[in-house]
Amino acid sequence: MALCNCAIVILGASGDLTGRKLMPALSTLFKQGQIDRSSIIVGSGRTFFTDEEFRNRFEEAADFGERLFYHQYISGLWEFIASKGNFTKKVVFLSQPPSAYESSARELVEDGFGSETSIVLEKPFGYDYSSAVKLNNALLACFNEKQIYRIDHYLGKEAVQNILVFRFANSLFYPQWNSRYIESIQINALESEGVAARGKYFDGAGIIRDMVQNHLLQLLCLLTMEAPVTLDAEDIREQKISVLRSMEILSCNRFQYEGYKSEKGVSAQSGTETFAELALRINNFRWLGTPVYIRTGKATYRKGTEIGVRFRHVPEVLYNKQGSLKPNTIIFNIQPNEGITLDLSTKIPGGDNSVAAAHMNLCYRKTFGAPSPEAYQKLIYDALTGDRTLFVSALETETAWRLVDDILDKGSVETYQRGSLPQSKFDLKWIDFDSYGALC
Ligand code: BG6
Repeated sequence: MALCNCAIVILGASGDLTGRKLMPALSTLFKQGQIDRSSIIVGSGRTFFTDEEFRNRFEEAADFGERLFYHQYISGLWEFIASKGNFTKKVVFLSQPPSAYESSARELVEDGFGSETSIVLEKPFGYDYSSAVKLNNALLACFNEKQIYRIDHYLGKEAVQNILVFRFANSLFYPQWNSRYIESIQINALESEGVAARGKYFDGAGIIRDMVQNHLLQLLCLLTMEAPVTLDAEDIREQKISVLRSMEILSCNRFQYEGYKSEKGVSAQSGTETFAELALRINNFRWLGTPVYIRTGKATYRKGTEIGVRFRHVPEVLYNKQGSLKPNTIIFNIQPNEGITLDLSTKIPGGDNSVAAAHMNLCYRKTFGAPSPEAYQKLIYDALTGDRTLFVSALETETAWRLVDDILDKGSVETYQRGSLPQSKFDLKWIDFDSYGALC
């Protein structure tokens, strides 16, 4: 469906996110006809640009033709848009530092933006539970919850959207999806880069705020929530919140890579963690008895995000008399090689009854051909068309903050070598996730 008569506004338009993510995604949507040419894009910010100067900043400008404008400051923006035509819908991207969210929302309302407007924001939504509540309250004093779209870009990833489909469109695993059959769940999200140019932001955050509170808890919610009544955003959010409320963090170990303190923008005495491992449990009927482990960090030996669901061992009889059979495991390969792998035991062809572990593999690239759309493209289109399913509600983000609040900045930080994986302090055999990425 092509979106018509929409004014797409980008506040903080001279910032890095505009050129890196928003413009390429908007350009694809224009080119594919998902945004009709009756719509306009207006950049805004404190710097002065003419329309011409603003257009010249982006490679994609030609794709928008005369539909791309610039207006300095929020004040007068509403009238500026009205002078370009009659736009039934206005979607404002707050592509700014989070410290500006509150004042921008207030200024937008003062300038005349009202119930026809939606605002789209990027994380971080707060720094801890109380600051998140404060930010949400300030935004909700200007716009109602249905007008606010909080982006968690992991929800826009194709392999993440497939988690609910896998669970609720296949009867095969449905009866087993509980602690009676599932021994443990592991989430592994590694990055090879350090903090690069984001040292200042990251040093004030750490990996738990940066990755766990949002992206990785969202993955865990999708994996463990009850079936929603419908696929409507509100029904899905309700189930995510419910399982989030049942989660408890049992332990957390924090690590920092060697050389981190010398990164640009990082304090020489920094105690910020760049890697963390967490043990959780989910205190509900379905999951009590299935431990959950999450580990994530920067400057490790590779980049990749996987979820492992390990089933219980078969009894130690028949083929498993020695207790040596590997348990069935499902690996969701979220990135870079999107796919799902199921590990099964199978007979090795030939004489005796020897059994080996074998992989059944679904590789998105081989199965569906075309590469998956970029997460931002999907999220921007959904925000423009008013589909809130892949966005995070105020209550979801607050509940996730409440869960991690007690472990933030707590405990010592051990060092690990850049390009390695810190030695786990849990008494646990982490799944060998490396071997699965290569299957696609
Ligand atoms: C961002 C974090 O939200 O997610 C970054 O702020 C992190 O620190 C990034 O690198 C990871 O996203 P992806 O899509 O590359 O896994």
